[in-house]
Amino acid sequence: RLADLKGLKRGRFRLGVITTAKYFAPEILGAFCETYPGIDVSLKVSNRDRIIERMLNHEDDLYIFGEPDSIGLSVEATYLAPNPLIIVARADHPLVGEKNIPLERIIQERFILREPGSGIRDAVTRLFSKHGLKPNVRMELGSNEAIKHAIIAGLGISTLSLHSLNLDGGAGRLTMLDVEGFPIQRAWYLVHPKGRDLSLIARAFLAFAVEREAEIQASLDRTDAALRLSSPSA
Ligand code: PGA
Repeated sequence: RLADLKGLKRGRFRLGVITTAKYFAPEILGAFCETYPGIDVSLKVSNRDRIIERMLNHEDDLYIFGEPDSIGLSVEATYLAPNPLIIVARADHPLVGEKNIPLERIIQERFILREPGSGIRDAVTRLFSKHGLKPNVRMELGSNEAIKHAIIAGLGISTLSLHSLNLDGGAGRLTMLDVEGFPIQRAWYLVHPKGRDLSLIARAFLAFAVEREAEIQASLDRTDAALRLSSPSA
């Protein structure tokens, strides 16, 4: 078998990903394990700062995160898929159905922000400060899931990756607002430190994952369509 020839019969593969990638990485890993059943895989999910720290400590074989050029380190980065950030509100929010809502209007809303170290937090605060604005932060939460629950509980609006609403996550109860400057277009990259040889397994995973871009895009499109349906005025 080809897998045996390539030395992929047995071994270990450790993947470290930012929180938004946890909504898709298990599917890629699952398919990978079917192709290479002798390989033990582990998945570590954390925020951007922690994942970069893990990379510096060589704790995993490969990483998924965004903006690899901004970390001041030589890395090899391979584009994987889009990772758009959207403004999420409860489906009955008064701003639902309004077009191109100005950021000045958004800062009047109670805002839920991710914890320091989060890439989402950085991206959203950067966008607001570019306009000389600050979101009206009423709560900081260290998890996208907790944020979804907080929005449903009426505690405010927030920024999430479109990926975090896949598989009916929040369908019918959450929707996306049409806000100026959003979606913030970002991407996931497969990253490892430059000059550090990838194992055969890690190389096989990288090639395997890159082939899944169309699937990831299709999942995003489904999530986008489901969210639009959940907004009463759509
Ligand atoms: P975070 O990263 O978990 O650090 O917020 C997610 C992302 O940047 O998409």
